[in-house]
Amino acid sequence: MSATMNADTNSQKSVIKGAIRIEDVVKVYDPDGAAVMAVDHCSIDIPGGEICMIVGPSGCGKTTLLNAIAGFHGITSGEIYLDNELLCGPGKMQAEPGSDRIVVFQNGALFPWKSNLENVVFGPMMEGKLSKEVIYDKAIKMMADAGLGGTEHSFPGEVSSGLRRRVEIVRALMLEPKVLLFDEPYRALDSLTKSVMHEALLDIYYKNKVTIFFITHDLEEAIFLGHRLIIMSSRPCKPKKIVEVDIPHPRDYSVLTSPRFRELMEEAKGVVNEEAKKAFEAGEKEG
Ligand SMILES: Nc1ncnc2c1ncn2[C@@H]1O[C@H](COP(=O)(O)OP(=O)(O)OP(=O)(O)O)[C@@H](O)[C@H]1O
Ligand SMILES: [Mg+2]
Repeated sequence: MSATMNADTNSQKSVIKGAIRIEDVVKVYDPDGAAVMAVDHCSIDIPGGEICMIVGPSGCGKTTLLNAIAGFHGITSGEIYLDNELLCGPGKMQAEPGSDRIVVFQNGALFPWKSNLENVVFGPMMEGKLSKEVIYDKAIKMMADAGLGGTEHSFPGEVSSGLRRRVEIVRALMLEPKVLLFDEPYRALDSLTKSVMHEALLDIYYKNKVTIFFITHDLEEAIFLGHRLIIMSSRPCKPKKIVEVDIPHPRDYSVLTSPRFRELMEEAKGVVNEEAKKAFEAGEKEG
């Protein structure tokens, strides 16, 4: 059973768009001439449809990398590709932000004065590529698929935070991105609320396979959600260790108590702690 699941997931992954290739990327900030190297010759290959979890010490350069993929800022050298097309590299050091890569802001990015449905249709309506009827039909179907049936005409403030997060993700998916980018979206949540969020995210992912680049400090979250876990070095960041999470999807919370989950946690924990310690010591020296 689990072998079949893995085979399915792998064959689906091979045809899903959204492959990201980060090649030898360096990012140096230069505030007032004081160079800060945030990313150091970093190379990561993410197949389309993968949930790729990024962990690493605070301040190591994770958000810097995500912002470079999103096109919020440029890189110093190296290249980033999406499905073999250059996003940024020599001659064009900053990627164009685009609806093929969407940063899902999970906190308060919905318009509180618009209904959930109006929030979901907002992007495509602004884009103006499709007719209103097509957009609304698609939105209603996607909301139903994401467990949001019946909440279309409620306002974000009238539904639970779990449902609100679903609305955020569906809103992003309406633009048919190839990649969703998450930067510690569940950072401030307690573990019970987090588990509701994880369920929502996986539920929607299983119906809408996109590539997910997801930064977190929470190792349990990283292993529970991810196909792979990339553990970054202390600043400047580059992959220190890659953990393949060979637990088949679809997953549910029973996975957390499985021996394999605990083994993977142990495997990752040592490296994460070692890098966090280095970052702490470097911070102390700098301070
Ligand atoms: N705009 C900027 N100008 C100068 N330095 C910056 C800028 N943005 C980030 N940095 C520095 O680059 C380094 C990496 O920052 P980044 O935010 O990418 O780390 P991070 O891994 O996301 O950290 P955290 O886990 O705390 O979110 C840090 O030393 C930070 O101070
Ligand atoms: Mg960050």
